[in-house]
Amino acid sequence: MDLDKEVYDGLNKQITHELEAWYTYLSLSAYFESKTLLGAAFWMRKQAEEEMGHAMKIFDYIHQRGAKAELGALPKPASSFPSVVAAFEAALAHEQKNTAHIYALLSLAESKSDEATVSFLKWFVDEQVEEEDSARKNLDLAKMCGDSAAALLQLDALLAKRKEGD
Ligand SMILES: [Fe+2]
Ligand SMILES: [Fe+2]
Repeated sequence: MDLDKEVYDGLNKQITHELEAWYTYLSLSAYFESKTLLGAAFWMRKQAEEEMGHAMKIFDYIHQRGAKAELGALPKPASSFPSVVAAFEAALAHEQKNTAHIYALLSLAESKSDEATVSFLKWFVDEQVEEEDSARKNLDLAKMCGDSAAALLQLDALLAKRKEGD
């Protein structure tokens, strides 16, 4: 393996973080299903699929570098939330935490002069900007709904329109 051991460990950990995100969004999807907010449930399910895709990108990269991916254990995700707003807050908080993980891994790769991993992780840096932006917008809109069921149903209809690749 030509990967630095610390970078290798960090990449494996990041697979777990992405799978934690997958699990978190899947749990959020279940929560919204239970609230009959099916558009939000759909949005979260699509996001879960994206997170699985992120995990697989790293999985493939480790093998491209001549090493073997080692999977870690996933913690149980939160499954109930005090409110719809709190559920969207949890999604944003999870993205912010993941951004910090990506930055730490990027700094590590830079400190080891692993230019390939630095270049590989740049995609994740850009992706996190998009992900935090959409999580923040969802949260802002949910807050705007306040106690209005009509507004919440409008937001739900908007989230149901999420397209492939969004
Ligand atoms: Fe991700
Ligand atoms: Fe994400």
